[in-house]
Amino acid sequence: MAAVWTLSGGARAVLLLCWFSSCHISVSAAGTFTRQLSFQLNPGWNSSSPPAGDLLHVRAVGNNDTLHFLFCSQGAPTLLLVHTDSASSSVQVNWTQFLSRNTSGGLQVEPESSVLSSAAVVFSRLLEYDDVNNTADPTSDLFPPYELRDFIWSRLQLSSPAALLCGTTPTFGNGSLCLQLSVFDLEGRDQSWPRLLHSANSSQLGVWLDGIPPRASHSRFLLELQVVGGASPVSSVDVRQSIDDEFTPSIFKVSQWVWSENGSADVLGFAQWKPVAYRRRRPALEDATPCRHSPPRPQSGVAAASGLVRAFFSEPQSVGLNVSFGLAGEPFYNSTGFLSWTLLVGVGSPPVDSFSPLVLTIMAVGLGTPMILLLLGGVCVCLHKRREAARTTYEPIN
Ligand SMILES: *[C@@H]1O[C@H](CO)[C@@H](O)[C@H](O)[C@H]1NC(C)=O
Ligand SMILES: *[C@@H]1O[C@H](CO)[C@@H](O)[C@H](O)[C@H]1NC(C)=O
Ligand SMILES: *[C@@H]1O[C@H](CO)[C@@H](O)[C@H](O)[C@H]1NC(C)=O
Ligand SMILES: *[C@@H]1O[C@H](CO)[C@@H](O)[C@H](O)[C@H]1NC(C)=O
Ligand SMILES: *[C@@H]1O[C@H](CO)[C@@H](O)[C@H](O)[C@H]1NC(C)=O
Ligand SMILES: *[C@@H]1O[C@H](CO)[C@@H](O)[C@H](O)[C@H]1NC(C)=O
Ligand SMILES: *[C@@H]1O[C@H](CO)[C@@H](O)[C@H](O)[C@H]1NC(C)=O
Ligand SMILES: *[C@@H]1O[C@H](CO)[C@@H](O)[C@H](O)[C@H]1NC(C)=O
Ligand SMILES: *[C@@H]1O[C@H](CO)[C@@H](O)[C@H](O)[C@H]1NC(C)=O
Ligand SMILES: *[C@@H]1O[C@H](CO)[C@@H](O)[C@H](O)[C@H]1NC(C)=O
Repeated sequence: MAAVWTLSGGARAVLLLCWFSSCHISVSAAGTFTRQLSFQLNPGWNSSSPPAGDLLHVRAVGNNDTLHFLFCSQGAPTLLLVHTDSASSSVQVNWTQFLSRNTSGGLQVEPESSVLSSAAVVFSRLLEYDDVNNTADPTSDLFPPYELRDFIWSRLQLSSPAALLCGTTPTFGNGSLCLQLSVFDLEGRDQSWPRLLHSANSSQLGVWLDGIPPRASHSRFLLELQVVGGASPVSSVDVRQSIDDEFTPSIFKVSQWVWSENGSADVLGFAQWKPVAYRRRRPALEDATPCRHSPPRPQSGVAAASGLVRAFFSEPQSVGLNVSFGLAGEPFYNSTGFLSWTLLVGVGSPPVDSFSPLVLTIMAVGLGTPMILLLLGGVCVCLHKRREAARTTYEPIN
Protein backbone atom coordinates (compact mmCIF):
# COMPACT_ATOMS: atom_id res chain seq x y z
CA MET A 1 0.00 0.00 0.00
CA ALA A 2 2.91 2.24 0.68
CA ALA A 3 3.58 2.14 -3.02
CA VAL A 4 0.25 3.60 -3.86
CA TRP A 5 0.93 6.69 -1.82
CA THR A 6 4.43 7.33 -3.11
CA LEU A 7 3.90 6.98 -6.83
CA SER A 8 5.37 9.48 -9.20
CA GLY A 9 3.56 10.63 -12.31
CA GLY A 10 5.22 8.02 -14.53
CA ALA A 11 4.36 5.23 -12.16
CA ARG A 12 0.77 6.38 -12.11
CA ALA A 13 0.55 6.01 -15.85
CA VAL A 14 1.91 2.46 -15.54
CA LEU A 15 -0.54 1.77 -12.77
CA LEU A 16 -3.37 3.04 -14.87
CA LEU A 17 -2.37 0.87 -17.84
CA CYS A 18 -2.03 -2.14 -15.61
CA TRP A 19 -5.33 -1.40 -14.00
CA PHE A 20 -7.20 -1.32 -17.26
CA SER A 21 -5.54 -4.44 -18.69
CA SER A 22 -4.45 -7.61 -16.95
CA CYS A 23 -5.00 -6.67 -13.35
CA HIS A 24 -8.59 -5.80 -13.95
CA ILE A 25 -9.22 -9.07 -15.74
CA SER A 26 -7.69 -11.12 -12.95
CA VAL A 27 -9.87 -9.38 -10.41
CA SER A 28 -13.06 -10.25 -12.21
CA ALA A 29 -11.89 -13.79 -12.99
CA ALA A 30 -11.56 -14.83 -9.33
CA GLY A 31 -13.42 -18.13 -9.42
CA THR A 32 -15.05 -20.31 -6.81
CA PHE A 33 -13.51 -23.60 -7.91
CA THR A 34 -13.49 -26.08 -5.03
CA ARG A 35 -12.11 -29.51 -4.27
CA GLN A 36 -13.24 -32.18 -1.81
CA LEU A 37 -10.37 -33.02 0.52
CA SER A 38 -9.81 -36.29 2.34
CA PHE A 39 -6.82 -37.18 4.50
CA GLN A 40 -5.30 -40.57 5.14
CA LEU A 41 -2.21 -41.34 7.16
CA ASN A 42 -0.16 -44.33 6.00
CA PRO A 43 -2.69 -45.74 3.51
CA GLY A 44 -2.79 -49.54 3.58
CA TRP A 45 -0.68 -49.82 6.71
CA ASN A 46 -2.66 -51.45 9.48
CA SER A 47 -0.46 -51.30 12.56
CA SER A 48 0.40 -48.19 14.58
CA SER A 49 2.97 -46.42 12.44
CA PRO A 50 5.58 -47.52 9.95
CA PRO A 51 9.24 -47.42 10.95
CA ALA A 52 11.29 -44.49 9.59
CA GLY A 53 8.54 -41.99 8.95
CA ASP A 54 4.89 -41.41 8.12
CA LEU A 55 3.26 -41.05 4.72
CA LEU A 56 0.32 -38.68 4.42
CA HIS A 57 -2.04 -38.92 1.49
CA VAL A 58 -4.43 -36.06 0.74
CA ARG A 59 -6.94 -36.58 -2.05
CA ALA A 60 -8.31 -33.40 -3.54
CA VAL A 61 -11.14 -34.28 -5.89
CA GLY A 62 -12.36 -31.72 -8.42
CA ASN A 63 -15.11 -31.95 -11.02
CA ASN A 64 -13.34 -34.41 -13.27
CA ASP A 65 -9.87 -34.67 -11.84
CA THR A 66 -7.99 -35.54 -8.66
CA LEU A 67 -4.87 -34.13 -7.09
CA HIS A 68 -2.97 -36.56 -4.89
CA PHE A 69 -0.71 -34.84 -2.39
CA LEU A 70 1.76 -37.22 -0.72
CA PHE A 71 3.97 -35.96 2.06
CA CYS A 72 6.56 -38.23 3.58
CA SER A 73 9.58 -38.21 5.87
CA GLN A 74 11.20 -41.47 4.84
CA GLY A 75 14.54 -39.85 4.14
CA ALA A 76 14.50 -36.19 3.16
CA PRO A 77 11.03 -34.63 3.56
CA THR A 78 9.22 -34.77 0.23
CA LEU A 79 5.97 -33.54 -1.20
CA LEU A 80 4.79 -35.45 -4.25
CA LEU A 81 1.96 -34.03 -6.30
CA VAL A 82 0.19 -36.25 -8.84
CA HIS A 83 -2.56 -34.87 -11.06
CA THR A 84 -4.99 -37.34 -12.65
CA ASP A 85 -7.89 -36.80 -15.05
CA SER A 86 -10.18 -39.09 -13.07
CA ALA A 87 -12.25 -38.39 -9.97
CA SER A 88 -11.73 -41.98 -8.80
CA SER A 89 -7.99 -42.54 -9.14
CA SER A 90 -6.32 -44.06 -6.09
CA VAL A 91 -2.94 -44.50 -4.46
CA GLN A 92 -1.59 -48.01 -3.84
CA VAL A 93 1.33 -48.58 -1.51
CA ASN A 94 3.21 -51.84 -1.32
CA TRP A 95 4.76 -51.32 2.09
CA THR A 96 7.28 -54.12 1.70
CA GLN A 97 8.74 -52.38 -1.32
CA PHE A 98 8.19 -48.89 0.01
CA LEU A 99 10.15 -49.54 3.21
CA SER A 100 12.98 -51.40 1.53
CA ARG A 101 13.68 -48.21 -0.50
CA ASN A 102 15.60 -50.00 -3.18
CA THR A 103 13.14 -50.23 -6.08
CA SER A 104 10.54 -48.07 -7.72
CA GLY A 105 6.90 -49.18 -7.76
CA GLY A 106 6.35 -49.17 -4.00
CA LEU A 107 3.83 -46.36 -4.52
CA GLN A 108 1.59 -46.17 -7.54
CA VAL A 109 -1.32 -44.05 -8.66
CA GLU A 110 -3.96 -46.14 -10.40
CA PRO A 111 -5.09 -46.28 -13.11
CA GLU A 112 -1.70 -45.29 -14.46
CA SER A 113 -3.25 -43.97 -17.68
CA SER A 114 -5.12 -41.30 -15.71
CA VAL A 115 -1.92 -39.55 -14.61
CA LEU A 116 -1.59 -36.13 -16.27
CA SER A 117 1.49 -34.92 -14.45
CA SER A 118 3.61 -35.64 -11.43
CA ALA A 119 6.35 -33.74 -9.65
CA ALA A 120 7.97 -33.84 -6.25
CA VAL A 121 9.68 -31.19 -4.15
CA VAL A 122 12.45 -32.56 -1.93
CA PHE A 123 13.98 -30.59 0.93
CA SER A 124 17.41 -32.07 0.68
CA ARG A 125 19.87 -30.05 2.78
CA LEU A 126 20.27 -27.24 5.25
CA LEU A 127 23.49 -25.29 4.82
CA GLU A 128 25.12 -22.88 7.22
CA TYR A 129 27.98 -20.45 6.70
CA ASP A 130 29.96 -18.11 8.86
CA ASP A 131 29.44 -14.61 7.49
CA VAL A 132 32.32 -12.94 9.38
CA ASN A 133 32.54 -9.99 7.03
CA ASN A 134 28.77 -9.54 6.86
CA THR A 135 28.70 -9.80 3.08
CA ALA A 136 26.07 -12.59 2.93
CA ASP A 137 28.16 -14.49 0.39
CA PRO A 138 26.93 -18.05 0.79
CA THR A 139 29.87 -19.64 -1.00
CA SER A 140 32.48 -18.84 1.61
CA ASP A 141 33.14 -20.43 4.99
CA LEU A 142 30.48 -23.13 4.70
CA PHE A 143 30.06 -25.56 7.54
CA PRO A 144 29.44 -29.22 6.68
CA PRO A 145 25.82 -29.39 5.44
CA TYR A 146 22.99 -30.95 7.38
CA GLU A 147 21.56 -33.77 5.25
CA LEU A 148 17.85 -33.74 5.98
CA ARG A 149 17.60 -37.44 5.02
CA ASP A 150 19.61 -38.21 8.19
CA PHE A 151 17.38 -36.22 10.54
CA ILE A 152 15.17 -37.81 13.15
CA TRP A 153 11.66 -36.87 12.05
CA SER A 154 8.67 -36.68 14.35
CA ARG A 155 5.41 -38.40 13.54
CA LEU A 156 3.15 -36.26 11.38
CA GLN A 157 0.81 -34.21 13.52
CA LEU A 158 -2.44 -33.74 11.68
CA SER A 159 -4.73 -30.83 12.31
CA SER A 160 -6.65 -30.80 9.09
CA PRO A 161 -6.15 -29.18 6.68
CA ALA A 162 -2.53 -29.03 7.84
CA ALA A 163 0.19 -31.50 8.81
CA LEU A 164 3.25 -30.68 10.89
CA LEU A 165 6.58 -32.47 10.69
CA CYS A 166 9.61 -31.58 12.80
CA GLY A 167 13.08 -32.93 12.44
CA THR A 168 16.14 -32.72 14.57
CA THR A 169 19.65 -34.02 14.76
CA PRO A 170 21.68 -34.75 17.95
CA THR A 171 23.63 -31.48 17.73
CA PHE A 172 20.42 -29.40 17.56
CA GLY A 173 19.53 -29.85 21.24
CA ASN A 174 16.02 -28.46 21.55
CA GLY A 175 16.22 -26.90 18.13
CA SER A 176 14.32 -28.20 15.14
CA LEU A 177 13.56 -27.73 11.49
CA CYS A 178 9.82 -27.96 10.92
CA LEU A 179 7.66 -28.18 7.84
CA GLN A 180 3.98 -27.54 7.76
CA LEU A 181 1.91 -28.66 4.80
CA SER A 182 -1.47 -27.02 4.18
CA VAL A 183 -3.86 -28.17 1.49
CA PHE A 184 -6.81 -26.05 0.40
CA ASP A 185 -10.30 -26.73 -0.84
CA LEU A 186 -10.70 -23.27 -2.34
CA GLU A 187 -8.93 -20.02 -3.12
CA GLY A 188 -7.73 -17.83 -0.29
CA ARG A 189 -4.85 -16.50 1.76
CA ASP A 190 -3.24 -17.52 5.02
CA GLN A 191 -3.67 -15.15 7.96
CA SER A 192 0.07 -14.86 8.57
CA TRP A 193 2.70 -13.22 6.38
CA PRO A 194 3.65 -13.54 3.56
CA ARG A 195 -0.06 -14.22 2.90
CA LEU A 196 0.49 -15.94 -0.44
CA LEU A 197 -2.55 -16.29 -2.65
CA HIS A 198 -3.42 -19.99 -2.97
CA SER A 199 -6.01 -21.90 -4.96
CA ALA A 200 -7.58 -25.33 -4.70
CA ASN A 201 -4.82 -26.46 -7.08
CA SER A 202 -1.97 -25.66 -4.73
CA SER A 203 -0.60 -26.52 -1.33
CA GLN A 204 1.52 -24.42 0.98
CA LEU A 205 4.67 -25.48 2.77
CA GLY A 206 5.90 -23.43 5.69
CA VAL A 207 9.48 -24.15 6.76
CA TRP A 208 11.04 -22.83 9.95
CA LEU A 209 14.29 -23.17 11.85
CA ASP A 210 13.57 -22.85 15.52
CA GLY A 211 16.27 -22.69 18.20
CA ILE A 212 19.00 -24.30 16.13
CA PRO A 213 22.36 -23.69 17.84
CA PRO A 214 24.36 -21.70 15.26
CA ARG A 215 27.90 -22.96 14.72
CA ALA A 216 29.19 -19.38 14.60
CA SER A 217 27.86 -16.12 15.95
CA HIS A 218 27.69 -14.75 12.38
CA SER A 219 25.83 -17.75 11.00
CA ARG A 220 23.40 -17.51 8.13
CA PHE A 221 21.46 -20.38 6.56
CA LEU A 222 20.53 -21.74 3.14
CA LEU A 223 17.97 -24.35 2.23
CA GLU A 224 18.50 -26.65 -0.72
CA LEU A 225 15.39 -27.74 -2.65
CA GLN A 226 15.06 -30.15 -5.51
CA VAL A 227 12.23 -30.55 -7.96
CA VAL A 228 11.86 -34.04 -9.35
CA GLY A 229 9.79 -35.00 -12.33
CA GLY A 230 9.47 -37.14 -15.35
CA ALA A 231 8.95 -33.95 -17.32
CA SER A 232 11.97 -31.69 -17.29
CA PRO A 233 11.56 -28.75 -14.92
CA VAL A 234 12.28 -25.40 -16.47
CA SER A 235 15.73 -24.44 -15.30
CA SER A 236 15.11 -20.84 -14.52
CA VAL A 237 13.26 -19.06 -11.82
CA ASP A 238 11.11 -16.21 -12.96
CA VAL A 239 11.09 -13.19 -10.69
CA ARG A 240 8.08 -10.97 -11.13
CA GLN A 241 7.72 -7.47 -9.87
CA SER A 242 4.55 -6.32 -8.30
CA ILE A 243 3.65 -2.86 -7.19
CA ASP A 244 1.20 -4.10 -4.63
CA ASP A 245 2.57 -5.08 -1.24
CA GLU A 246 -0.71 -4.98 0.59
CA PHE A 247 -0.49 -8.61 1.72
CA THR A 248 3.27 -8.87 2.14
CA PRO A 249 4.42 -5.48 3.38
CA SER A 250 7.59 -4.10 1.77
CA ILE A 251 7.97 -7.04 -0.65
CA PHE A 252 7.29 -6.16 -4.27
CA LYS A 253 8.43 -9.38 -5.91
CA VAL A 254 7.31 -12.95 -6.37
CA SER A 255 9.59 -15.77 -7.51
CA GLN A 256 8.27 -18.73 -9.38
CA TRP A 257 9.73 -21.90 -10.74
CA VAL A 258 7.46 -23.55 -13.30
CA TRP A 259 7.80 -26.92 -15.01
CA SER A 260 6.40 -28.19 -18.25
CA GLU A 261 6.54 -31.22 -20.52
CA ASN A 262 9.76 -31.37 -22.49
CA GLY A 263 9.45 -28.88 -25.33
CA SER A 264 5.89 -27.87 -24.50
CA ALA A 265 4.65 -24.47 -23.47
CA ASP A 266 1.96 -25.86 -21.17
CA VAL A 267 2.82 -25.27 -17.54
CA LEU A 268 2.25 -28.48 -15.56
CA GLY A 269 3.21 -27.27 -12.13
CA PHE A 270 5.02 -24.64 -10.12
CA ALA A 271 6.72 -23.63 -6.94
CA GLN A 272 6.12 -20.01 -5.97
CA TRP A 273 7.38 -17.90 -3.11
CA LYS A 274 7.90 -14.33 -1.99
CA PRO A 275 11.60 -13.60 -1.45
CA VAL A 276 11.19 -12.95 2.26
CA ALA A 277 11.74 -14.86 5.49
CA TYR A 278 10.74 -13.82 8.99
CA ARG A 279 12.90 -13.82 12.09
CA ARG A 280 10.03 -14.28 14.51
CA ARG A 281 7.08 -16.58 14.73
CA ARG A 282 4.75 -13.58 15.00
CA PRO A 283 6.69 -11.11 12.91
CA ALA A 284 6.64 -7.35 12.89
CA LEU A 285 7.80 -5.52 9.79
CA GLU A 286 11.38 -5.25 11.07
CA ASP A 287 11.58 -9.05 11.42
CA ALA A 288 11.39 -9.51 7.65
CA THR A 289 14.61 -10.52 5.95
CA PRO A 290 15.02 -10.80 2.16
CA CYS A 291 15.98 -14.10 0.50
CA ARG A 292 17.76 -14.92 -2.71
CA HIS A 293 17.96 -18.07 -4.77
CA SER A 294 20.71 -19.63 -6.82
CA PRO A 295 20.15 -20.63 -10.45
CA PRO A 296 18.57 -24.10 -10.74
CA ARG A 297 21.02 -26.87 -11.60
CA PRO A 298 20.57 -30.56 -12.48
CA GLN A 299 21.22 -32.79 -9.49
CA SER A 300 21.88 -36.47 -9.01
CA GLY A 301 21.19 -38.93 -6.24
CA VAL A 302 17.74 -37.67 -5.31
CA ALA A 303 16.22 -41.18 -5.28
CA ALA A 304 18.66 -42.26 -2.60
CA ALA A 305 17.72 -39.25 -0.47
CA SER A 306 13.93 -39.55 -0.61
CA GLY A 307 11.94 -42.75 -0.04
CA LEU A 308 8.91 -41.28 -1.77
CA VAL A 309 10.86 -40.34 -4.91
CA ARG A 310 12.44 -43.81 -4.98
CA ALA A 311 9.05 -45.50 -4.66
CA PHE A 312 7.18 -43.45 -7.27
CA PHE A 313 9.59 -42.47 -10.06
CA SER A 314 11.42 -45.05 -12.10
CA GLU A 315 13.98 -42.65 -13.57
CA PRO A 316 13.84 -39.47 -11.52
CA GLN A 317 15.42 -36.34 -13.00
CA SER A 318 15.97 -33.55 -10.58
CA VAL A 319 16.90 -29.89 -10.60
CA GLY A 320 17.91 -28.09 -7.44
CA LEU A 321 18.45 -24.62 -6.09
CA ASN A 322 19.49 -22.96 -2.87
CA VAL A 323 17.43 -20.34 -1.10
CA SER A 324 19.62 -18.16 1.10
CA PHE A 325 18.20 -16.15 3.94
CA GLY A 326 19.45 -12.67 4.75
CA LEU A 327 21.44 -10.00 2.92
CA ALA A 328 24.62 -8.15 3.84
CA GLY A 329 24.04 -5.98 6.87
CA GLU A 330 20.96 -7.88 8.07
CA PRO A 331 20.95 -9.38 11.58
CA PHE A 332 22.39 -12.89 11.89
CA TYR A 333 20.47 -16.03 12.87
CA ASN A 334 21.58 -15.64 16.51
CA SER A 335 19.55 -12.39 16.80
CA THR A 336 16.31 -14.33 17.30
CA GLY A 337 17.20 -18.01 16.77
CA PHE A 338 14.24 -18.29 14.44
CA LEU A 339 13.64 -18.12 10.70
CA SER A 340 10.56 -19.00 8.68
CA TRP A 341 9.90 -19.15 4.97
CA THR A 342 6.86 -20.14 2.91
CA LEU A 343 6.49 -21.88 -0.41
CA LEU A 344 3.49 -22.68 -2.59
CA VAL A 345 3.52 -25.85 -4.71
CA GLY A 346 0.77 -26.68 -7.16
CA VAL A 347 -0.38 -27.87 -10.56
CA GLY A 348 -1.13 -25.65 -13.53
CA SER A 349 -0.04 -22.04 -13.65
CA PRO A 350 0.91 -20.20 -10.47
CA PRO A 351 -1.73 -17.90 -8.96
CA VAL A 352 -1.42 -14.27 -10.00
CA ASP A 353 -1.90 -11.69 -7.32
CA SER A 354 -4.57 -9.20 -8.21
CA PHE A 355 -5.37 -5.88 -6.65
CA SER A 356 -7.72 -6.13 -3.73
CA PRO A 357 -10.89 -4.01 -3.63
CA LEU A 358 -9.20 -1.78 -1.04
CA VAL A 359 -6.27 -0.99 -3.32
CA LEU A 360 -8.59 -0.54 -6.28
CA THR A 361 -10.63 1.95 -4.28
CA ILE A 362 -7.54 3.86 -3.26
CA MET A 363 -6.36 3.86 -6.86
CA ALA A 364 -9.73 4.99 -8.10
CA VAL A 365 -9.76 7.85 -5.64
CA GLY A 366 -6.08 8.65 -6.15
CA LEU A 367 -6.30 8.64 -9.94
CA GLY A 368 -9.90 9.69 -10.32
CA THR A 369 -9.76 12.86 -8.24
CA PRO A 370 -6.90 14.50 -10.17
CA MET A 371 -8.59 13.50 -13.42
CA ILE A 372 -11.89 15.06 -12.46
CA LEU A 373 -10.01 18.17 -11.34
CA LEU A 374 -8.12 18.19 -14.63
CA LEU A 375 -11.34 17.82 -16.60
CA LEU A 376 -13.08 20.53 -14.60
CA GLY A 377 -10.01 22.71 -15.00
CA GLY A 378 -10.00 22.05 -18.72
CA VAL A 379 -13.66 22.92 -19.05
CA CYS A 380 -13.17 26.17 -17.09
CA VAL A 381 -10.19 27.15 -19.19
CA CYS A 382 -12.16 26.44 -22.37
CA LEU A 383 -15.14 28.45 -21.25
CA HIS A 384 -12.90 31.29 -20.20
CA LYS A 385 -11.03 31.26 -23.53
CA ARG A 386 -14.29 31.23 -25.48
CA ARG A 387 -15.59 34.21 -23.60
CA GLU A 388 -12.27 35.93 -24.09
CA ALA A 389 -12.29 35.07 -27.81
CA ALA A 390 -15.85 36.30 -28.15
CA ARG A 391 -14.87 39.58 -26.53
CA THR A 392 -11.73 40.08 -28.69
CA THR A 393 -13.52 39.25 -31.98
CA TYR A 394 -16.52 41.48 -31.27
CA GLU A 395 -14.70 44.45 -29.82
CA PRO A 396 -13.22 45.86 -33.06
CA ILE A 397 -16.65 45.84 -34.67
CA ASN A 398 -17.97 47.92 -31.80
C1 LIG B 1 -2.30 -56.09 7.85
O1 LIG B 1 -3.38 -56.61 7.11
C2 LIG B 1 -3.03 -57.72 6.28
C3 LIG B 1 -4.24 -58.13 5.48
O2 LIG B 1 -5.27 -57.23 5.61
C4 LIG B 1 -2.53 -58.86 7.15
O3 LIG B 1 -2.12 -59.93 6.31
C5 LIG B 1 -1.34 -58.39 7.96
O4 LIG B 1 -0.93 -59.38 8.84
C6 LIG B 1 -1.72 -57.14 8.76
N1 LIG B 1 -0.52 -56.63 9.40
C7 LIG B 1 -0.53 -56.14 10.62
C8 LIG B 1 0.77 -55.66 11.12
O5 LIG B 1 -1.52 -56.11 11.29
C1 LIG C 1 -16.24 -34.45 -17.16
O1 LIG C 1 -15.88 -35.39 -18.15
C2 LIG C 1 -16.98 -35.81 -18.93
C3 LIG C 1 -16.52 -36.90 -19.86
O2 LIG C 1 -15.19 -36.74 -20.25
C4 LIG C 1 -17.54 -34.63 -19.67
O3 LIG C 1 -18.66 -35.02 -20.44
C5 LIG C 1 -17.97 -33.58 -18.67
O4 LIG C 1 -18.40 -32.42 -19.34
C6 LIG C 1 -16.83 -33.22 -17.77
N1 LIG C 1 -17.30 -32.33 -16.73
C7 LIG C 1 -16.66 -31.23 -16.37
C8 LIG C 1 -17.30 -30.45 -15.29
O5 LIG C 1 -15.60 -30.90 -16.87
C1 LIG D 1 4.75 -56.19 -2.69
O1 LIG D 1 6.06 -56.32 -3.12
C2 LIG D 1 6.64 -57.56 -2.77
C3 LIG D 1 8.10 -57.52 -3.13
O2 LIG D 1 8.29 -57.09 -4.43
C4 LIG D 1 5.88 -58.67 -3.48
O3 LIG D 1 6.42 -59.92 -3.12
C5 LIG D 1 4.42 -58.61 -3.07
O4 LIG D 1 3.67 -59.57 -3.77
C6 LIG D 1 3.85 -57.24 -3.31
N1 LIG D 1 2.56 -57.16 -2.71
C7 LIG D 1 1.51 -56.80 -3.39
C8 LIG D 1 0.22 -56.76 -2.64
O5 LIG D 1 1.57 -56.53 -4.58
C1 LIG E 1 15.67 -54.74 -1.75
O1 LIG E 1 15.89 -55.00 -0.37
C2 LIG E 1 15.25 -56.20 0.09
C3 LIG E 1 15.50 -56.34 1.56
O2 LIG E 1 15.87 -55.15 2.15
C4 LIG E 1 15.82 -57.40 -0.67
O3 LIG E 1 15.15 -58.57 -0.26
C5 LIG E 1 15.59 -57.20 -2.16
O4 LIG E 1 16.20 -58.25 -2.88
C6 LIG E 1 16.20 -55.88 -2.61
N1 LIG E 1 15.80 -55.66 -3.99
C7 LIG E 1 16.62 -55.15 -4.90
C8 LIG E 1 16.08 -54.96 -6.27
O5 LIG E 1 17.77 -54.85 -4.62
C1 LIG F 1 36.96 -11.09 5.46
O1 LIG F 1 37.71 -9.92 5.27
C2 LIG F 1 39.11 -10.12 5.48
C3 LIG F 1 39.78 -8.76 5.40
O2 LIG F 1 39.27 -8.04 4.32
C4 LIG F 1 39.65 -11.09 4.44
O3 LIG F 1 41.03 -11.31 4.66
C5 LIG F 1 38.90 -12.40 4.57
O4 LIG F 1 39.32 -13.30 3.57
C6 LIG F 1 37.42 -12.16 4.47
N1 LIG F 1 36.73 -13.41 4.76
C7 LIG F 1 35.80 -13.90 3.97
C8 LIG F 1 35.21 -15.19 4.40
O5 LIG F 1 35.45 -13.35 2.95
C1 LIG G 1 15.59 -27.19 26.19
O1 LIG G 1 14.44 -26.54 26.68
C2 LIG G 1 14.32 -26.56 28.08
C3 LIG G 1 12.99 -25.94 28.47
O2 LIG G 1 12.58 -25.00 27.55
C4 LIG G 1 15.50 -25.79 28.70
O3 LIG G 1 15.40 -25.81 30.08
C5 LIG G 1 16.77 -26.46 28.24
O4 LIG G 1 17.88 -25.73 28.70
C6 LIG G 1 16.83 -26.54 26.73
N1 LIG G 1 18.01 -27.28 26.34
C7 LIG G 1 18.78 -26.90 25.36
C8 LIG G 1 19.93 -27.82 25.04
O5 LIG G 1 18.59 -25.86 24.72
C1 LIG H 1 -7.66 -25.79 -10.98
O1 LIG H 1 -7.69 -26.96 -11.78
C2 LIG H 1 -8.95 -27.18 -12.42
C3 LIG H 1 -8.89 -28.51 -13.12
O2 LIG H 1 -7.69 -28.66 -13.83
C4 LIG H 1 -9.25 -26.03 -13.36
O3 LIG H 1 -10.50 -26.22 -13.94
C5 LIG H 1 -9.27 -24.73 -12.55
O4 LIG H 1 -9.45 -23.65 -13.40
C6 LIG H 1 -7.97 -24.57 -11.80
N1 LIG H 1 -8.11 -23.43 -10.93
C7 LIG H 1 -7.16 -22.50 -10.80
C8 LIG H 1 -7.45 -21.39 -9.87
O5 LIG H 1 -6.10 -22.60 -11.40
C1 LIG I 1 13.95 -33.00 -24.34
O1 LIG I 1 14.03 -32.57 -25.67
C2 LIG I 1 15.35 -32.50 -26.16
C3 LIG I 1 15.30 -31.92 -27.57
O2 LIG I 1 14.03 -31.57 -27.91
C4 LIG I 1 15.98 -33.88 -26.14
O3 LIG I 1 17.31 -33.80 -26.59
C5 LIG I 1 15.95 -34.42 -24.72
O4 LIG I 1 16.44 -35.74 -24.69
C6 LIG I 1 14.55 -34.41 -24.19
N1 LIG I 1 14.58 -34.78 -22.78
C7 LIG I 1 13.74 -35.66 -22.26
C8 LIG I 1 13.89 -35.91 -20.81
O5 LIG I 1 12.89 -36.21 -22.91
C1 LIG J 1 23.81 -25.16 -2.64
O1 LIG J 1 24.95 -24.59 -2.06
C2 LIG J 1 25.97 -25.53 -1.74
C3 LIG J 1 27.08 -24.77 -1.09
O2 LIG J 1 27.47 -23.71 -1.86
C4 LIG J 1 26.44 -26.25 -2.99
O3 LIG J 1 27.39 -27.24 -2.64
C5 LIG J 1 25.24 -26.91 -3.64
O4 LIG J 1 25.64 -27.52 -4.85
C6 LIG J 1 24.18 -25.89 -3.90
N1 LIG J 1 23.01 -26.58 -4.42
C7 LIG J 1 22.43 -26.25 -5.57
C8 LIG J 1 21.24 -27.04 -5.95
O5 LIG J 1 22.85 -25.36 -6.27
C1 LIG K 1 25.04 -12.47 17.61
O1 LIG K 1 26.40 -12.51 17.26
C2 LIG K 1 26.97 -11.22 17.07
C3 LIG K 1 28.38 -11.40 16.58
O2 LIG K 1 29.17 -12.09 17.50
C4 LIG K 1 26.93 -10.47 18.40
O3 LIG K 1 27.46 -9.18 18.21
C5 LIG K 1 25.49 -10.38 18.86
O4 LIG K 1 25.43 -9.80 20.15
C6 LIG K 1 24.86 -11.76 18.93
N1 LIG K 1 23.43 -11.61 19.19
C7 LIG K 1 22.82 -12.28 20.14
C8 LIG K 1 21.37 -11.98 20.31
O5 LIG K 1 23.39 -13.10 20.84
